Amino acid sequence: MSEKYSVLIVEKDRKVCGQLIDFLESEGDFHIIKVMHSGTGVEDICKSTKIHLILLGTSIEESTKQGINFARLLFKLYGIPVVFIASSKEKDHIKRFALDSYGYIVKPFSRDQLLSSVYLALQKARLEKRLLEAQKLRALSIFAAGVAHDFNNILGAIIGYSELIKLKTGGNDQVGKYVNLILKACMRGKQLIDHLMTFSRQFDHTKKYSFPLHIILKETIKYVKSEMFEDVLISEDIIKEGDLISADPSKVHQLCLNLLVNACEAVKGINGSVAVSLKREKCPVTMEDLLDSQECLVLEIKDTGEGMDEDVRERIFEPFFSTKQGATGLGLSVVHGIVTEIGGEIFVDSKPGKGTIVRVILPVAQEGEALY
Ligand SMILES: Nc1ncnc2c1ncn2[C@@H]1O[C@H](COP(=O)(O)OP(=O)(O)OP(=O)(O)O)[C@@H](O)[C@H]1O
Ligand SMILES: [Mg+2]
Repeated sequence: MSEKYSVLIVEKDRKVCGQLIDFLESEGDFHIIKVMHSGTGVEDICKSTKIHLILLGTSIEESTKQGINFARLLFKLYGIPVVFIASSKEKDHIKRFALDSYGYIVKPFSRDQLLSSVYLALQKARLEKRLLEAQKLRALSIFAAGVAHDFNNILGAIIGYSELIKLKTGGNDQVGKYVNLILKACMRGKQLIDHLMTFSRQFDHTKKYSFPLHIILKETIKYVKSEMFEDVLISEDIIKEGDLISADPSKVHQLCLNLLVNACEAVKGINGSVAVSLKREKCPVTMEDLLDSQECLVLEIKDTGEGMDEDVRERIFEPFFSTKQGATGLGLSVVHGIVTEIGGEIFVDSKPGKGTIVRVILPVAQEGEALY
């Protein structure tokens, strides 16, 4: 992704500030959004601006809060990773800095020291965010499984007795019509339960098989084209060899279906199109360490729909988050869970009015890999 990290510098010493700016800007990955020499107004900026990292002098003060205490507060309140800029006189406090922040550097520092602290802090924050997300999803999945189970029993009773009424009345009179409407609504309820069940089941240990991804992908496209979105143009560029993956096929079908449906929904009625591609490419660096193979499978689903703004984009993997009327908002959280389980990664690139590209990177399975 080409997005730069936005950095807020809060440090009394102007010479140090100049150095920080030089070092960071020469790296090319960072955008300094503001440089401040006192703590006044820092909280307002944290509230109103998207900040990826704060470089915070430990001598910075704010009216009632002094130095390190202010820095700690800022970090706790806004959860933005903070790298403390300490002075060499504060050696006694170094343990505290290490515990309280995502990292620290001691003045005077070199470019390499600064960059390694900064990248480490960003990586630490990213991992923490992922862990939190996983914990949140797990808690919600337990809740969803409970709701789905009870709701299923209730629906079972409604469907059963409705069928009995139909049987008793012959089903052709006015009562029969009403009963049919009740049954139709129950079927929608059943679909919702299926969705909830899939969402909660993603955390179970399920059976895995090795199979070529293109088979399920092609089947899903065929289904979506013929049964759901006849008028949406879906183009395909799909490899048919070297695309073995090790996963639960029904989950892979869910994964493809949810992404395709989202893309088709985004272009429906606006004469847009959807392009699906499956390729083998070099693994991204983030996955290299985890895999034996140098290559990964890349499933890309691209649409020319309305796209998303940053606020929506940030929340798409949250369970129950939806901008669509009557939708459950579980699609992408299910996808995220499945991709993670297979050991892959998912990237979503979208801009309002410019469409959306979803890239799913999956590890390639070896021929004959054990089934379990
Ligand atoms: N291809 C896309 N283009 C534009 N917005 C998208 C796209 N895919 C997802 N979104 C946004 O992400 C939100 C969440 O997607 P998700 O699939 O989880 O739920 P949903 O589609 O709203 O409901 P469900 O999938 O449960 O029927 C959507 O409501 C939409 O705002
Ligand atoms: Mg969806």
